This record gives sequence, structure tokens and C-alpha cells, in this order.
Amino acid sequence: MPQEVRAVIAPGKNEPVRVETIVVPDPGPGEAVVQVQACGVCHTDLHYKQGGINDEFPFLLGHEAAGVVESVGEGVTDVAPGDFVILNWRAVCGQCRACLRGRPWYCFDTHNAKQRMTLTDGTELSPALGIGAFAEKTLVAAGQCTKVDASVSAAVAGLLGCGVMAGIGAAINTGNVGRGDTVAVIGCGGVGDAAIAGSNLAGAAKIIAVDIDDRKLETARKMGATHTVNSKETDPVEAIRELTGGFGADVVIEAVGRPETYKQAFYGRDLAGTVVLVGVPTPEMKLELPLLDVFGRGGALKSSWYGDCLPSRDFPMLIDLHLQGRLDLGAFVTETIRLDEVEQAFERMHHGDVLRSVVVL
Ligand code: APR
Ligand code: ZN
Ligand code: ZN
Repeated sequence: MPQEVRAVIAPGKNEPVRVETIVVPDPGPGEAVVQVQACGVCHTDLHYKQGGINDEFPFLLGHEAAGVVESVGEGVTDVAPGDFVILNWRAVCGQCRACLRGRPWYCFDTHNAKQRMTLTDGTELSPALGIGAFAEKTLVAAGQCTKVDASVSAAVAGLLGCGVMAGIGAAINTGNVGRGDTVAVIGCGGVGDAAIAGSNLAGAAKIIAVDIDDRKLETARKMGATHTVNSKETDPVEAIRELTGGFGADVVIEAVGRPETYKQAFYGRDLAGTVVLVGVPTPEMKLELPLLDVFGRGGALKSSWYGDCLPSRDFPMLIDLHLQGRLDLGAFVTETIRLDEVEQAFERMHHGDVLRSVVVL
């Protein structure tokens, strides 16, 4: 029987979000219905609401979630009712060229649920990143559910579904940060702080946090930064070089998504170092660099989508490290809120007041 539940909808471009009743179908083949326990508020949800992603309103927002599988459709064997899972937006197909080459984190054909959730009048909803988890229950592809140790709190676990995974993965997967490396992270919001925590986990010798906001630098220190630079007051490229014996950092992670901060990352790294762009630029942004510098400085210029994560590999491992006290994921949860407080959470996010607001159901 299809079920009616409460959920947060973005009805139209720039209109305030609101709580509505939606209809969640029974899971079909390869699908699962998940009882959502917690879902973080991410910039991408705000971008959907602002019409910055596409025009397919109404959107069912929310995509950084954890919960319990309620029911599964035909042919689902990887998860079962009762499993505690983190939802992901990279349910890899196993068959595309990327998957067959053994690089499933680049999968071109990730799975989402085939059936649509609707409003009670039958209007079809577009779930954010194919998830839609500011809802008491949601319908996803079974591959979007990754089982993890159920003793972790849902508010913490859900964070790995997007931003925190993107940041940790930018450091450990894309940047390949290793023991003894020097790392600089430009932009210390949720994503940058996660990159700091990831670098710390990987054994980086020095972690330089760069931001224009002193409050953010203070938090960055708690996440494991060994040095901080306010780039409003100090030239960050010079500061990074000074802190690294004149060389620049082995890995610089750009977690803002702007041309000027990308340039800082480019020049703040050591010769043959690595730049990782995990901040998401907007379509009109352009980057200009002397091509000779691109050649002459060598190394690698990489982008990191979703931290190049493979949910089945990374989620359980990071949750285990958290439970062992080696990765403080709890530090990313600034506040827990109710389903009807998402609009205010967008406001606070916009003002830079929070790392993550997490809806707890
Ligand atoms: N130089 C340095 N830091 C900056 C600059 C700048 N010019 N401009 C902004 N910042 C800092 C802000 O002060 C803030 O601490 O960047 C941080 C951005 O953090 P959030 O707004 O919380 O964003 P976050 O969730 O961390 O995401 C960062 O990654 O996934 C993408 O879309 C996301 O592009 C965004 C980026
Ligand atoms: Zn694939
Ligand atoms: Zn997100």
C-alpha cells in the first residue's frame, strides 16, 4: 500500500519551502523504502530551491540522510528490512565503462528509484540528488542504501551521505594525502573542515587552514588544523609557503569553488604537488592561468566529485573509525532541528553560522 508521510517540498523558484503530505509507493524491483531518522541541510538543497540546478519543481529536498530500511522490492539482496543505512547518491551500476575499468566512483549510470513519489494530487516530485530525505519515509534504489554499524547516531551517520564525505574523500581519495604530507585547505566550512579531518586521519604532518572568517578558523583548529591563515589579512600563498619551508604544500584542497581561491591553491602548492578542487563553481566563472605555470609547476590538478567515494567501501569504514574515537564526526553537527525548520536553517547556512543543521525525525 502506498503510504502518506510528511516531507519538505520546494514548490517553485525561490519560494519558501514547506512541509506537505507526500505519497511514497511500495518499493518495486530493485527499490527500497527507508524510514528516515536524520537528514542534514546541504548547500545543494538551497541551490535546488533557488532553481540553480534545474527547473523540475516541485522538489523533494534533503539528501544527507540515514535511517532504517522498512521494505524492499523484488530482487533486492544487499539490504533487508531493519538494516540501518546511510543513503548515497552514487549507487554504482557495475556495468558502465568506468565500473568495468575498476573505477566505479566515476560510474556514468548510477541508480535511483524508478517509481516517482508524488503529492496527494498526483503531482510528481523531483527528489534532490535522487534521494529526497527531508521526509518521514523515502523511496530509493536499493543500491543507494549502505549498511553501517547501527550503534552510531543517525544525525552523525547521515553526514557521510554528502558534504562531509566530499571533504574527507577530497583529502584521502582524490588528494591521496599520506603520512608526513603538508596540506593546505582553503575554505573551512563543512566541506573544508572535513578535508582537514580527513588529512589528519591520513597522517598529514602539517595542516594549514585558510579562511576569511576567524570563527571558521577556530573551528578548523578543533578539526585538526595545525596552523591557520586569515586570507583577508594575510596573503595566503605567501603564508602557506612560509609555513612549509618556502616550498608550498604537497596537497592544497580548494573547498570554496571560486577562481581566486583556486589560484591561491594553484600557487600555494609545492612543485609537483596536487591541487584538489572540491568547492563547486557556478557556470559563469572563468579561470585564467599562465599555461607555462601549469606546465612548469608540474604535479596534478584534480577535481573531486563526492570525494571520489565508493559508499560501500568508505561509509562503513568511516563510521567504524568514528565509533573508535578516531574521527569526530559529531563535531560537524551544529544543531538538530525539526522538519518544519528547514527554511530557517537555510538562512543560518547563508550567514555562515553553522557547519551542519540536521533534521531529526
Ligand atoms: N577565501 C577563503 N575562504 C572563503 C572565501 C575566500 N575568498 N570565500 C568564502 N570562504 C569560506 C567561508 O568563510 C566558509 O567558511 O569558505 C567556507 C565555505 O563554507 P560553507 O559555505 O559552509 O560551504 P561548504 O558546505 O563547506 O561547501 C563548500 O563545497 O560542496 C561544495 O557547494 C559546496 O562550493 C561549496 C563548497
Ligand atoms: Zn557504472
Ligand atoms: Zn549535498
